[in-house]
Amino acid sequence: MYAYVIAVVVIITILVAKHRNFGRRPKDYPPGPPTLPFFGNLFQMPTREIHKGLAKMSAQYGPIMSLKLGAMDVIVLNSYTTVKDLYDKRSSIYSNRVDNYLRNFGYNLMISTRDNDDVWRRQRKMYHTALTSTAATRYLPYQRFESNQLLWDLLNKPNSSYDALKRYTTSTGSTITYGWRVNSSDNHYVSRLFEWIESYTLVGIATQVTEFFPFLRPIIRHTPKSLNKLNKELSRLVIMEKDLWLELLQQARSKVDQGRLNPCFAGDMLTNQDKDGLNEMEMAYNAGHAWAGASDTTFNTLLGFVKAMILYPEVQKRARLELDEVIGADRLPEWQDRDNLPYVRAIESAAQADPALRDHFTFGSGRRICPGMQVADRSLFMVISRMLWAFDIQGLDNEVIDNDAMTSGLVAGPIPYKSNCVLRDEKRGQLITETWKEAEGWLDEERNYTQAWYEAEFWKK
Ligand code: HEM
Repeated sequence: MYAYVIAVVVIITILVAKHRNFGRRPKDYPPGPPTLPFFGNLFQMPTREIHKGLAKMSAQYGPIMSLKLGAMDVIVLNSYTTVKDLYDKRSSIYSNRVDNYLRNFGYNLMISTRDNDDVWRRQRKMYHTALTSTAATRYLPYQRFESNQLLWDLLNKPNSSYDALKRYTTSTGSTITYGWRVNSSDNHYVSRLFEWIESYTLVGIATQVTEFFPFLRPIIRHTPKSLNKLNKELSRLVIMEKDLWLELLQQARSKVDQGRLNPCFAGDMLTNQDKDGLNEMEMAYNAGHAWAGASDTTFNTLLGFVKAMILYPEVQKRARLELDEVIGADRLPEWQDRDNLPYVRAIESAAQADPALRDHFTFGSGRRICPGMQVADRSLFMVISRMLWAFDIQGLDNEVIDNDAMTSGLVAGPIPYKSNCVLRDEKRGQLITETWKEAEGWLDEERNYTQAWYEAEFWKK
């Protein structure tokens, strides 16, 4: 018995001695708050309003700050120049992705978490080819069309900006990725997409502990599913995701074969297959993550826009004056108007017409910068300019909206709030109705675009 106790004490002593620096900040790291043994800064890490908490710490420790979250090293950059210097100028060394539990569980084909290896390069190349600013212009007809429906939806249900924007963003996402549209939010692919995004976010939060304490990974990984809800849920998600992406790619392929697929990302990949060397699974995941990447981010950005307009009516007023001066009440704003609308453009925080000269980091930076930003810019501009042109965006029921209330998770967004889109005048209402009725007339029996519509000169003006 004594021998056993002594053996345990010796093992514990060796482990403690070996890992006594676990959680401690190494001497050559950037400054940061004092660490606790083993846990590091875990207990100082803000759990709510993370942006505010980190900004406060960074005011004390400087624009490059480090945190130890158990074994994990976190470097926080909090100035434009440090982000530019490290991510843009030294992107060759700062563009990889850290290993994580989730990506090892499935097929590791999600581009945003894939390390910068050969598969990532080929996936990324496909995005570049398909989403350059010239290529993104091919998708403008979709964004014009969908923003017509958005105005129509809001005209008929002024309090429905949440649902109307969700439909707009998933539909522009699905048309740009797969060539078909989402007529209403109860589309079953949209439900499957959002179930996947929401469940993935939850398991992402649940597996964080394995990022802080990686020695737990093999233990969790090899615990039988019957005892382990997390692995069970992960297995369900892996199958759900694979089925969804493969089914959608297959559908796009059969339309390519029949010659009836409108321009889209999946179509580009399928017809360019030899050049890019992406296999079936790599293409399916690349397209699926484009749709997911396009929908949730654009949706949350637009929710942020509506909220900002409610909170800052003076900004809204100034933007409307600019729109009245440049556009007037006789026509809807178009993408081609953006150069003449600097104030409206600035509300989407893109103060520079040339994205290369941008002074914000909404789309990230360096080699991993969002490859969809040209498309996103168009999607945002069409909604922002048209909603401001058509409506006075107000709050509802005297609800007090907290400027900083944000959801947590992979893509943070405003916590839901109420809004009321009040039509500015009858003339605009009439124009919205006429434009939508004309647009609607181009849809087929499944309320999808026809090729005749895409090719019609009407949409290319
Ligand atoms: C308002 C809309 C959007 C916002 C705010 C946004 C933001 C971002 C951010 C911050 C990143 C990470 C960049 C980094 O690591 O430095 C990213 C990556 C990515 N985005 Fe977007 N995005 C938007 C729309 C889109 C759209 C429309 C698409 C596709 C059509 C897209 C596809 C992607 C992909 C594939 C990546 C991963 C790139 C990689 O890791 O190499 N995004 N996005």
